[in-house]
Amino acid sequence: FNVNTPVNEPVKDYAPGSAERIALEAKLKALSAEKIEIPLIINGEAVKTGNLKDCTMPHDHQHVIGFYHAAGTDETKAAIDACLTAQKEWAAMPWQHRVAIFLKAAELVSTKYRALLNAATMLTQSKNAFQAEIDSTCELTDFLRFNAKYVAEIYSEQPNSTKDTWNRLEYRPLDGFVYAITPFNFTAIAGNLPTAPAMLGNCVIWKPSSTTVYSNYIFMQILIEAGLPKGVINFVPGNSAEITDVCTSHSSLAGIHFTGSTAVFQSLWRSVSENIHQYKSYPRLVGETGGKDYIFADASANIDALAVAMVRGSFEFQGQKCSAASRAYLPKSIAAAVLDRAKTMISELKMGDVANFENFVNAVIDAKAYKKIVSYIEDAQQSEDAEIIAGGTYDDSVGYFIAPTLILAKKPDYVSMREEIFGPVLTVYVYEDEARAETLESLNDVSDYALTGAIFAEDRKVIVELEQLLSQTAGNFYINDKPTGAVVGQQPFGGGRASGTNDKAGSKLNLYRWISARTIKETY
Ligand code: ALA
Repeated sequence: FNVNTPVNEPVKDYAPGSAERIALEAKLKALSAEKIEIPLIINGEAVKTGNLKDCTMPHDHQHVIGFYHAAGTDETKAAIDACLTAQKEWAAMPWQHRVAIFLKAAELVSTKYRALLNAATMLTQSKNAFQAEIDSTCELTDFLRFNAKYVAEIYSEQPNSTKDTWNRLEYRPLDGFVYAITPFNFTAIAGNLPTAPAMLGNCVIWKPSSTTVYSNYIFMQILIEAGLPKGVINFVPGNSAEITDVCTSHSSLAGIHFTGSTAVFQSLWRSVSENIHQYKSYPRLVGETGGKDYIFADASANIDALAVAMVRGSFEFQGQKCSAASRAYLPKSIAAAVLDRAKTMISELKMGDVANFENFVNAVIDAKAYKKIVSYIEDAQQSEDAEIIAGGTYDDSVGYFIAPTLILAKKPDYVSMREEIFGPVLTVYVYEDEARAETLESLNDVSDYALTGAIFAEDRKVIVELEQLLSQTAGNFYINDKPTGAVVGQQPFGGGRASGTNDKAGSKLNLYRWISARTIKETY
């Protein structure tokens, strides 16, 4: 392994009887039978507040597998103090040693703790084995290893000098602490948001999503085992409003690293603006906030590839991916053939418990998500402007299960063509081939988001035209592929407009945001 040329962690296939399958099944059984207690980690110490919350499993919501201590105002203040105390030594540590800690953590994730972290992600985020492997092992270790390479590259970037002056850039961390607010849907993203700023010498308050404290805590413990010094990352699950209020009203808030909803990100901007007069430095606000991701097909599209992209892009990970395809535009000339193929594939998808490795679809994360997703299906059942052509069933008696659902919209601005649903629902609009220009206009107009998008066309002239026409509609644009599954080191990820600040996770563009450089000019 060379820090300068990392390779993406290979995805294991979990074939029946394989060593990884046996290890993973054993961990699934063991964790399901336990009930772990999760403290906060402040200044390297376990802190128990006694304000206990359950960790449950989305596919079996009455089954409690752990409980965590929730933080409030006092603990958040203590965590900020820990950050500010740890900051000096952490920033002064030679960067190679800082980075080595995260590379060691990546190695622990991919070896000793692979089964544990995958099992925790499967059980508490309701992912099948392959999704957990892609997320909590491969993408997480890729973030750590590729960010290490980018940190090394950034620190070597220096301006020109002349024979009587020497110009240097000193890459300092931000002047204060970073607040990382992480989402439920990816253990990898939850791990990346606090570690990326930390690699560059920042100290971090990490508020995990309340639904995924369990898997995130396991990663926190791995960081500690890898040698993370006290106070560098403080693990503070709990009441979002209270924790956020303490962080955003603190004079040393230097940055927010966020993945979540547009509404929450906007409320963070508002809090920052209300407190703007009292910060030592302007906080950097970096956020990724969802999407209304599209697939647009031209009449020249490859029908098989398009149908596969619609099914995988929309229903993998239960559609609980900010990148998931959630609206598709099909020309009438090929629509029937595409929909036939998609419906056949959907009818073959198995749904159920994560312990059965055959299941492609698992549960959605919690009751709130379930209710919201079901409301769009119910609307389509009742509306004259829509028709359900596949799926449309749901059942939350044991777990929050929603069948992969295809809605046919009769208008391009039907509600589920416009609004983010964040679940296994794809809405399709069939356009008259002659009405392509108006349809593209509508694609651009009906949603404020601009995260991912995919086009399907075999005609190169059309590809060139669409790539230009749709330039502002997606930060990640896919030609003849599904709009999901960005790989760290290959497709830097992020979008603009209501989808966020487009600071491309897993790339140098993101890491620059956590640096406050000093230019030093020395004259001889
Ligand atoms: N980065 C993830 C994807 O591209 C969310 O699907």
